[in-house]
This record gives sequence, structure tokens and C-alpha cells, in this order.
Amino acid sequence: MSREQLVEMTRSLVAHGAADTMEYADEVVRIPASAYTDDALFDLEKRQIFRRLPLMVAPSCELPEPGDYKAMDICGVPLLLTRLKDGSVGAFLNMCKHRGNPLAEGTGNATRLMCGYHGWTYKNDGTLIGVADPKDFGAIDKAAHCLTRFPVYESAGLIWATLDPKSELDIADYLCGYDGLLDAFGFENWHLFSQRTLAGPNWKTAYDGYLDFYHLPILHKDTFGADFYNRANYFAFGPHQRLSTPSKFAIKVSGDDDQQMDLEAMSDDELPYEVLVQGVWTIFPHISIASFYGGGLRGAMISQLFPGNRVGESYTTQYYVMAEKPEDEDSIKAAHEQFDFLEIVVRDEDYKTGKRQHEALQSGLLDEVLFGRNERGGQVFHQWVEKLTNASNAELKDIFAREMAQAAE
Ligand code: FES
Ligand SMILES: [Fe+2]
Repeated sequence: MSREQLVEMTRSLVAHGAADTMEYADEVVRIPASAYTDDALFDLEKRQIFRRLPLMVAPSCELPEPGDYKAMDICGVPLLLTRLKDGSVGAFLNMCKHRGNPLAEGTGNATRLMCGYHGWTYKNDGTLIGVADPKDFGAIDKAAHCLTRFPVYESAGLIWATLDPKSELDIADYLCGYDGLLDAFGFENWHLFSQRTLAGPNWKTAYDGYLDFYHLPILHKDTFGADFYNRANYFAFGPHQRLSTPSKFAIKVSGDDDQQMDLEAMSDDELPYEVLVQGVWTIFPHISIASFYGGGLRGAMISQLFPGNRVGESYTTQYYVMAEKPEDEDSIKAAHEQFDFLEIVVRDEDYKTGKRQHEALQSGLLDEVLFGRNERGGQVFHQWVEKLTNASNAELKDIFAREMAQAAE
């Protein structure tokens, strides 16, 4: 099923490429500039979007072994992810039930975690197994003091968690079948090569850039090049969008000697998966996935964006994941060069521009910003942000039950 859908998308891209056309949005859309600068709206988005919707918190290959764990902070919520003995993932509030001290920091491997304050001990499935000096402490029901659990879902080699323990929104529904397509990457067998975190501008300013090819040959003329394509067609699955260039050609990467493939001349069965997943895959509200081939090896950069403490701040963790672990010195060096190049592109071009843009918007003298008919990704993204920010919990469930039913049709 997923291959059929991917082939269908590719055929549409090829047809548009052959005709030198693209799909346009119906109209130019205007967004109030205050959507990027308003402090109260920023706080509301953190609550209604980031603390209420499923977030892609880690690629599976970041926690490959039983006992692996990672602690992270998202919009003020301390999250602990663990890989359990049976291979499943646990997601917990990273706070000891004694007096709230975070149990773990950073990453590591441990099947039991002891709180560094008074020594209470938990299994990595959240069970409280030991109260330090229990006779002195006094009787409590241990079973009632296990770590608070968050809804968690692993699919397509990616891990989602919802930072609301009471959430009734099914994570699979939220994904609207999109994870079935992401599955084509085969991320569950990939390796985490490297990662880093970058500071960026307002989270929506930063995310706009991931949904936009229009800027590529201009802002990135010194890195990607001035003849880079600037058109994208968009495929939406609920709020999640893939963008890809309408073209009848694709590059077959084979080390030193890249070849052009004529996709029109290939049968559906001949289309390789690399071609079928071309472009940028965004996962609402904060992920972008794009393929790269440093040194001829297949890799992808997964960018994971979170709002910062203030309206003009965000931070992005870039994960460089690779289909095969590079083993020899040359491949390792080439993979580092590819990843370092992407740091420059994002930090010195996208985010530097985003920060200047944000400072200018803070003047309050521009009423609105525009998204053209060729920028449907940004239009759709902002519509979803507004809709989901304002939806009640019950409406949220209905919205995604409807989207999922449509996707299944
Ligand atoms: S806060 Fe964890 S043992 Fe006291
Ligand atoms: Fe960019």
C-alpha cells in the first residue's frame, strides 16, 4: 500500500516536471505578523501544541539497546525515554515521586535508575522498587508511586510521545497514516551517526524554512548553489506534509560517478525507494527529514525543533542518521563533512536570516506576512497551528479521527 502511494506521488511529480508546471495553492495567504511575535500566543502554542500533541522525540536508533535511556526537557516538561527489556519504549515524566528531582540526565544505559537526591530506585519501566530506609521513611504504597507515564508510540523507526499523561488522542490517528509512508526509509535499521543542537529564531519562523523551496537558490546560493530548484509540490496527510520537486529526473548516487535517471522511462517497479522518498518530509509540528549522500553513503538529517524560553527563541537538534554505519576512515570523514555542511546551511543561512527577520517583525510595523501560491506548505502549516491551538481536547480527538478515516478511504 505504501509503495503504491509513493509511486503515485512520484508519477505526479514526474508529470509536473515534464510539463514544467507545479501545483499551486488557491490564493496568496496573509498571516498576521503578530503570529510570530506575540508573547501570549507563544505561551498558548507551547501549551496547546507542544504539551498536548504527539511529538517525535527520538529516532529509534538513538535508543537501540535494552536499558538505553535519554532525558530531555521540552517546553518545561522533563521527559525520560527508556528502551525496555522486551524492546518496547517507555516515556515517563522524569521526576522522582518523592520530591520531584529528575531521575536521569542526558543519555546512558541502566535498567534501574536511582534518584540522586535521597536514593529511591525505579526500574526503567517506571516501577518504584525501592524507598531508601523504608522503616525510617514510613509506609507508602509503592505501586501508587511509580513514574508518571506518557502515551508513547514507535513506528517507522521513530518514537512519538505526548506530554500529557491524560491525553486521549491516539498517536496513530494523529499521524493519519503518514508513518506508513515514512516506513519506506527503513529507519528502524539505521544508525545514529552524530547529533548536535543549534539555537534558532521563533519556532514558526524556523519551521517556515523547512516548508519552503522558494528560498533555496537565493538564501542558499553559496552552499546549495544559485541554480537549485525552487519549486515544490506538497502532499498533505493531516497536518504532516511532504514536499518534493516536480521533476522527471532523479540523480542516482553511486560514489564518484552520479548518474541522471529518467523516471519517465522507468516502470513503477523499477523506481528505487531513494527516489520514492525524495524531498523533505515534515512531521507536524516540529520535524523535518531530508536525504543526503555524503561520500556516496545514504543518510538523512532529522531536524527536531522546539520553542525556546522566549518568543524569539527556539532550539533544534539535528540527528544525522545513516542506512549503513560508515566503517572506514574515508567514509567517516565524508559523513562528518556532509553533516558539518548542513550545520553551516542551517545556522549561518536559515537561522541567521530567521533571527534578523524576527527582530524586524518585533518592530510591530509590518501588519502581515505573505505566503504565495507556490508556498502551500507554509499556508497549510499556519492553518493547522491556528486550528489546533484553538481546538478543545474533545475537538482534537474528532479532528484526527476524521483525518484518519479519510486517509483510510
Ligand atoms: S527526590 Fe528522589 S529520592 Fe528524594
Ligand atoms: Fe533553508
